[in-house]
Amino acid sequence: MLQFSTKKALGEYLDQQRQLGKTIGFVPTMGALHEGHASLVKIARKSTDIVTVSVFVNPTQFNDKNDLQNYPRTEEKDCQLLESLGVDAVFLPSVDEMYPEPDTRVFDFAGIDRVMEGEHRPGHFNGVAQVVSRLFDIVNPDKAFFGEKDYQQIAIIKQMVKTLGYKLEIVPCPIVRGADGLALSSRNALLTPEHRAVAPFIHKTLSQVPAMAATKSPAEICNWVVETINSQPLLEAEYFQIVDDETMMPINTFTKGRKSVGCVTVWAGKVRLIDNVVF
Ligand code: PAF
Repeated sequence: MLQFSTKKALGEYLDQQRQLGKTIGFVPTMGALHEGHASLVKIARKSTDIVTVSVFVNPTQFNDKNDLQNYPRTEEKDCQLLESLGVDAVFLPSVDEMYPEPDTRVFDFAGIDRVMEGEHRPGHFNGVAQVVSRLFDIVNPDKAFFGEKDYQQIAIIKQMVKTLGYKLEIVPCPIVRGADGLALSSRNALLTPEHRAVAPFIHKTLSQVPAMAATKSPAEICNWVVETINSQPLLEAEYFQIVDDETMMPINTFTKGRKSVGCVTVWAGKVRLIDNVVF
């Protein structure tokens, strides 16, 4: 596996590969890699020739300094995992390499950023678009792979791809869960044993939502999910919202033939976990 820390060296390597007729698959990450990331790499491996992974904790998408400071960093272990998965190139840039000057671009996400994570983490998606667009400019992938745990992030990135006119395919990949149902996340490593023990209750609660949709309104289900999660003393729901799968706009009623997604954010002590259910 080749390791790159500069845009120039990675760009040159990938240009050579393209000239040889190879397709480029790209998995952007913030490191602290787990089986969820491994599954993105495996999906990329199956459908593209050269798999590139970036490991970069992007400061512009953190609206909380402590969160940025505490974000787990396990670079050596990450590289070992990527090597074992047969990744061709890993990109490990410094903050200065990614942002030689501050990025002042403000993106228009056609309203998708005004709900859920966008509403609760102001500026977060703008920072995601800043770094992902920079990474796309460097890697110029044919396909980029993103996990569906960050469901709204995928909608945001698809909107950015449309606005900026990138010629690439965004490939959404299924959530990977632990045996107890907890969605894998780099943040799980920060949970105390007590919070880790109750965290699977989030998925257990969400998995009851699809059946409820037959008899209850989105508002009734939202109240039920928040109350049920909050009935666990160690968990506190920040929000649960049901939105249309395509527009990401909150819905008041269910429409036959349209997919909905229920997205939740839950505090487990000091750790903010997200999950969703599509139905
Ligand atoms: O989903 C993530 O890990 C990050 O938001 C991403 C896409 C790597 C951008 O920093």
